[in-house]
Amino acid sequence: MEKVIDGEKLTIPTHVAVIMDGNGRWAKKRLMPRNFGHKAGAKAIERISSDAKELGIKYLTVYAFSTENWKRSVEEVSGIMNILRDYLDICIKDAEKNRMRVRVLGDRTALDKDIIDKIEELEGVTSVYDEFNFNIAINYGGRDDIRRGIEKILADYKEGKLDGNITEALISSYLDTKDMPDPDLLIRTSGELRLSNFLIWQLAYTEFYFTDCLWPDFDKDELIKAIRYYNGRDRRYGGVK
Ligand code: IPE
Ligand code: IPE
Ligand code: MG
Repeated sequence: MEKVIDGEKLTIPTHVAVIMDGNGRWAKKRLMPRNFGHKAGAKAIERISSDAKELGIKYLTVYAFSTENWKRSVEEVSGIMNILRDYLDICIKDAEKNRMRVRVLGDRTALDKDIIDKIEELEGVTSVYDEFNFNIAINYGGRDDIRRGIEKILADYKEGKLDGNITEALISSYLDTKDMPDPDLLIRTSGELRLSNFLIWQLAYTEFYFTDCLWPDFDKDELIKAIRYYNGRDRRYGGVK
């Protein structure tokens, strides 16, 4: 989709994925505890979901908590989970206002029961919307996504639902992102140049944009910068142009 933004014609990526990193460093710069940064990070998620919709992005997928983030202190993890509780309440209101469908990726079974209930409510209530899709990855790991997918493939095979022919499309249809296009653009904030186990199957041909901006400072202008960068890329998919 093409859109004119401040007089500039830009192709808007259909699916944008974001590794929201740098909350801890943002707090540290202000001599505040890490969870202060996570709170500001949650505010940035509220802003960016409506900005993304306004810009014409169809799918936005954000990495909120990885399968590796449990390694952090009990204090930090419980702080993040509390911020998540509050955020999910805000999200359900925003979703109705913005008409956005929200889905949570990752293995939710490890989360507290009340959080699982909130997630189910959010997904249920917003399933009627299809203009804009907002995905939040919680207790998500790309390897775990593939592992869980293989488990389900095996179970369906044993039940005779599959014939044993494994195609790439079949694998994709067993991942948390089933029915969604692969991301066109990946953004990682805070200057780290790695995937940290995010969407490793789905990012095979995605364009990568890295910025030093810390996540709580990421706003619509930063998103437009990333889209502008995306517009300068030549996507060849292994071919020649
Ligand atoms: C990202 O910010 C948020 C989560 C991983 C939950 P960090 O908490 O990783 O912030 P830094 O990398 O320590 O600055
Ligand atoms: C990646 O950030 C995970 C999320 C943003 C949720 P991390 O801060 O956990 O990644 P590493 O530890 O720097 O690889
Ligand atoms: Mg980090």
